[in-house]
Amino acid sequence: MTKQNKPRGLALAALLVAMSFPGLVASQALQEDEPGYSREGADSCFACHDDQQTLAIFRTKHAVPSDADSPFGHGQLQCESCHGPSGDHAGRVRRGQERPASIDFGADSATPIPVQNGLCIECHSADQGSGWHASGHDSDDIACADCHVSHAASDPVMATATQPEICFDCHQYERSQALKPFSHPLREGKMDCSSCHSTHGNSTDTQFAQAALNGTCYDCHAEKRGPYLWEHAPAVEDCGSCHDPHGSNNPGMVSLRGPMLCQGCHSQAGHPSIPRTPDELAGGMPSQYLLSRNCMNCHTAVHGSNHPSGSNLMR
Ligand code: HEC
Ligand code: HEC
Ligand code: HEC
Ligand code: HEC
Ligand code: HEC
Ligand code: HEC
Ligand code: HEC
Ligand code: HEC
Ligand code: HEC
Ligand code: HEC
Repeated sequence: MTKQNKPRGLALAALLVAMSFPGLVASQALQEDEPGYSREGADSCFACHDDQQTLAIFRTKHAVPSDADSPFGHGQLQCESCHGPSGDHAGRVRRGQERPASIDFGADSATPIPVQNGLCIECHSADQGSGWHASGHDSDDIACADCHVSHAASDPVMATATQPEICFDCHQYERSQALKPFSHPLREGKMDCSSCHSTHGNSTDTQFAQAALNGTCYDCHAEKRGPYLWEHAPAVEDCGSCHDPHGSNNPGMVSLRGPMLCQGCHSQAGHPSIPRTPDELAGGMPSQYLLSRNCMNCHTAVHGSNHPSGSNLMR
């Protein structure tokens, strides 16, 4: 799909026309030639569906008559490019007879989700890429409409302040994490899930925004990338080996407090895990921090050190 920069005034004018004179919208339709479709496009629908919510579609990028790719572009099928052929649905119904359905969207719809999504992907295969089809969302039959709202001037999942709520609906564990005392500012609306995740999916295991987990963190925490003279192996490999990125009860969003955090990997290497006397330190030198037990009191440079004598990550 090509992106076009249209003068805003024009789009607004088109919108006003659409709202006040629906007939002008339909005059572009070619629906008579399309079996199963209504004769007059959107005009056929307004007879029964002219509530504010339905009409809100005209305040979105989906109703830009000057955009040939838009459902309301020249030669497109308007409402029915999404809702499918609805000629019978819009037609007369005899008393006692049930109105044939139009295609509805979302988890409660009678239309199977792959069919619903197929209607959207018909126009959006470029945005979706192959990532969507490899994603947990596609394989678990999540609908485009589970995240996106089409009949709204602004789609909440596209705005940072409102996006996380939509994701939390299904991802309850991440919600409980984000409620912990130390977390990324998700609930404050300063960042959203797509700061770290590619929501439509990509080839990484957990749909990271960047090619790998650490690359995703470096987007914002560039100083942790180094290069360091003395690297700390786990920091180079996986920030998640010490941090819970969705939230934690521990300061600094670490998954465990020191010394347990470090003891997960360092047992008695070099000096005992919890040195109590100078003799238990590899260098045998006394230290004022000895009884405080937290490894980070001495090994402050846990992410890596650039100090010439920082090989033990102490400075
Ligand atoms: C003659 C009246 C009438 C016309 C014309 C009409 N609809 Fe409907 N539509 C209804 C009724 C009644 C419902 C039942 C839903 C409800 O209870 O609100 C409905 C429901 C729907 C639904 C929800 C799914 C379903 O079938 O229950 C969609 C989507 C829909 N209409 C789309 C359209 C579209 C698109 C057009 C134009 C091509 C259209 N309608 C024209 C009366 C109409
Ligand atoms: C871009 C695709 C798209 C277009 C174009 C579109 N719709 Fe929808 N429509 C949806 C989706 C998706 C939903 C589900 C709710 C939502 O996302 O807002 C929906 C919901 C509805 C519903 C409510 C069904 C219910 O269960 O309550 C009606 C009625 C409806 N649309 C009618 C129309 C009419 C009439 C038009 C043309 C003026 C139209 N739609 C154009 C995608 C579209
Ligand atoms: C007839 C083609 C067509 C169909 C069908 C269609 N879209 Fe679109 N969609 C477009 C066009 C064109 C744009 C505007 C692209 C742009 O301006 O970058 C768009 C934009 C969007 C956007 C971005 C909106 C924004 O504000 O930036 C979303 C999200 C979207 N569509 C979702 C959907 C969903 C969900 C469906 C199925 C219910 C759907 N589309 C069906 C053509 C279509
Ligand atoms: C898990 C939630 C989710 C699902 C499911 C989802 N989207 Fe999106 N979509 C988003 C978010 C979030 C954005 C905003 C861009 C971003 O942050 O990645 C977006 C952006 C878009 C855009 C704007 C262009 C772009 O790529 O940025 C289009 C078009 C779109 N989605 C279409 C679809 C279609 C079609 C489907 C179904 C095949 C779908 N989306 C399924 C969450 C979702
Ligand atoms: C309608 C329910 C639903 C919504 C809404 C939803 N998801 Fe999901 N999500 C799932 C399911 C189901 C899976 C696949 C099963 C799994 O891996 O947990 C999944 C998988 C994921 C994964 C991949 C997990 C992995 O290990 O590969 C990420 C990341 C994700 N979702 C992020 C998001 C984000 C971000 C949003 C909001 C923009 C969102 N989801 C909205 C249901 C949902
Ligand atoms: C700061 C970056 C970041 C943000 C923001 C973020 N995530 Fe994640 N997410 C990760 C990382 C890193 C993982 C890999 C697993 C781990 O280490 O916990 C992950 C894993 C996941 C998984 C897979 C969990 C599993 O057990 O496989 C889901 C689902 C998920 N995130 C959903 C979300 C949702 C929903 C949001 C928004 C509320 C969100 N994430 C925000 C970084 C982030
Ligand atoms: C979109 C930007 C962004 C990305 C990507 C990001 N962060 Fe953050 N991070 C922040 C912001 C903003 C804060 C809060 C800073 C503050 O409050 O001063 C933060 C804070 C932190 C903190 C300190 C929390 C505290 O309580 O002191 C840690 C640890 C952290 N991030 C780790 C990570 C990890 C690990 C990743 C990758 C999985 C990551 N971040 C990805 C923006 C980001
Ligand atoms: C070996 C464990 C470990 C690894 C691996 C690790 N961190 Fe940390 N990180 C810590 C500890 C410990 C703190 C300090 C926590 C506190 O405040 O008590 C911290 C603090 C932070 C902070 C907040 C304070 C500051 O220094 O800015 C950020 C941001 C951060 N880490 C990002 C990252 C990123 C990004 C990665 C991956 C490149 C990473 N961390 C890997 C242990 C680790
Ligand atoms: C995920 C496992 C892991 C965790 C957690 C971890 N480390 Fe390490 N650490 C390593 C590895 C691997 C090395 C490199 C060992 C080597 O090169 O022999 C290392 C090296 C070190 C070194 C330098 C020693 C040397 O000989 O180069 C120090 C000091 C150190 N870690 C302290 C800590 C502290 C303090 C913590 C807690 C904040 C911690 N580590 C957490 C795996 C871990
Ligand atoms: C009182 C300060 C202090 C505390 C607390 C401390 N260390 Fe050390 N650590 C040192 C000193 C000093 C050295 C360097 C000894 C040397 O130069 O040979 C060292 C060396 C190391 C080394 C490298 C050992 C080697 O093979 O040379 C590792 C790994 C290490 N510490 C891990 C830890 C862990 C894990 C903890 C917490 C359980 C911890 N340290 C707590 C002072 C401390």
